[in-house]
Amino acid sequence: MDRNLALEVVRVTEWAAIASARSMGRGNKNESDQAAVDAMRRAFDTLNIDGTVVIGEGERDEAPMLYIGERVGKGTTSAEPVDIALDPLEGTNLCAYGKPGAISVVALAARGHLLNAPDTYMEKIACGPGARGAISLSKTPTQNLNDVAKALGRVVSELTVVVMERERHAALIAEVRAAGARVRLIDDGDVAAAIATCFEASGVDLLMGTGGAPEGVISAAAVRCAEGDFQGRLRFRNDEERARAKKMGIGDEHRIYRAEDLARGDVMFAATGVTTGDFLKGVRFFAHGAETHSVVMRSKTGTTRFITATHRLDKKPM
Ligand code: FBP
Repeated sequence: MDRNLALEVVRVTEWAAIASARSMGRGNKNESDQAAVDAMRRAFDTLNIDGTVVIGEGERDEAPMLYIGERVGKGTTSAEPVDIALDPLEGTNLCAYGKPGAISVVALAARGHLLNAPDTYMEKIACGPGARGAISLSKTPTQNLNDVAKALGRVVSELTVVVMERERHAALIAEVRAAGARVRLIDDGDVAAAIATCFEASGVDLLMGTGGAPEGVISAAAVRCAEGDFQGRLRFRNDEERARAKKMGIGDEHRIYRAEDLARGDVMFAATGVTTGDFLKGVRFFAHGAETHSVVMRSKTGTTRFITATHRLDKKPM
């Protein structure tokens, strides 16, 4: 993939973040999501790519824009064929209620290199580069905590684990607490939490728990770029989901996917903060414009760029 694409693609998350941030705290998650989707869709038209959405807003009949299979980008003859995993607003409720950690995200890879994940759940574990190789979904949470602490040269009580506050996590939270680790419960947004593990300054060492499978692919793409570690295992809620996944080519439902199984080859990733979180500031508005804070990463080179951009919305309306 053309390396300049990494700098271009951040426009789509910037636009989506600015559009959704306008509705922050208004308590209407559909309004926030719609604004992000519309803006991201328009921004894609400015990129010279021949993109296919593989992780998007849903199936074609349920999502009018950025649906799975939709072609985006200018699509000229020189355009690069890429697969795209996106979430214009990851953490819709976080934005709607003005809570920390809402982001806009996009991952790009060569065609066929991102897992076409079914819309179900995924059990996940993620950590940063320092503990790479120390995590595995085939181990118990306690074993993972002990091994990550050892890899980081710390004791378990010095680790911070992010878990989504859900009933299904009661046993997991109890075990992590019993092992002595610090637990941070979040309302939503396990993509941001997975990425946060890769930035030491975030203070987050591990993400554990079950969230959306499509979000798992996006997290894997980001964590691969940042040289952290991620594993995921599909968790179906019913036989209908199981059957749909089978149709999509998922053979072994118990398979543990590594980051490189979910997002293969050269991967690019961009995220922009909507509300301030562990590693990105949220959108700030001022007279005639807005300021955004984004991260752009590429797996091939391992380069991570934090980009603070000032947008003059009077000169370049979105
Ligand atoms: P939305 O942005 O679609 O609201 O998703 C937020 C999220 O918290 C994800 O980060 C997470 O993977 C998933 O929802 C968890 O799903 P559930 O709310 O059903 O537990």
